[in-house]
Amino acid sequence: MPATYPYFMLSQEDILYIENLPAEDSLRLISEKFSEGAVFSTSLGQEDQVITDMIFRNQLHIKVFTLDTGRLFYEHYELLSQNNARYKTKTEVYFPDAQDVEKYVNEKGINAFFHSVENRKECCYIRKVKPLNRALEGAKIWITGLRSEQSENRENMKMIEWDTEKKLFKFNPLIHWTYQDVLDYIKTNNVQDLPLHKKGFISVGCKPCTRAITEGENPRAGRWFWEESQKECGLHSK
Ligand code: ADX
Ligand code: SF4
Repeated sequence: MPATYPYFMLSQEDILYIENLPAEDSLRLISEKFSEGAVFSTSLGQEDQVITDMIFRNQLHIKVFTLDTGRLFYEHYELLSQNNARYKTKTEVYFPDAQDVEKYVNEKGINAFFHSVENRKECCYIRKVKPLNRALEGAKIWITGLRSEQSENRENMKMIEWDTEKKLFKFNPLIHWTYQDVLDYIKTNNVQDLPLHKKGFISVGCKPCTRAITEGENPRAGRWFWEESQKECGLHSK
């Protein structure tokens, strides 16, 4: 944690205490400490369904939002609407700027992300990163479903970090969970998840940029599967 982080919001003692709580209790404490400023971004993936369940079942004061890139699977929309019905509450949906998308598509092509890493990153920037920044306006703490097991880039992430660029805390309550922990929670609590997971899609993003994985493959191998690069879209890295 950098020396300049706003420790009056969360002291080192608070952080240590929260990091040792069960995830559900840590979310409750964060929602109480930050009141209006706590937000959670859900991709509707399995980790995020776990956190969504913890937030909505306990009626925690945390804004839940998703980024609709316009290129998601039909199953994402089904699950979003099932969530809203089950928990009798609404996940806020953020869309990309229409002019950004029109310019990109008309100048580069509807599927230009397949042609170069640069094009792909630009598409992710327009459809995910920019709307994310809008969704995070005014937030003091951003909750995500990141787990350290997911990738090399995520291995060294902490449960609570200060994001110097966005100027907010990032809170990853499941950072130390294994995939089995996630599956166990889903089963025990009868949480709904994307039917795609049973078809080999483990990490799921936009439809054209995700494929099912085969046994033994890294769970993120199905993301931007035609690229050799580091498999990140810019939400959590440059
Ligand atoms: S990504 O960077 O590769 O797309 P990943 O799918 O692993 O991310 O999800 C990691 C976390 O990023 C999720 O737990 C969620 O907090 C956030 N996230 C990813 N995609 C979205 C989305 N479409 N809407 C909201 N949050 C998202
Ligand atoms: Fe565009 Fe693919 Fe990134 Fe989705 S994952 S925003 S379609 S490049």
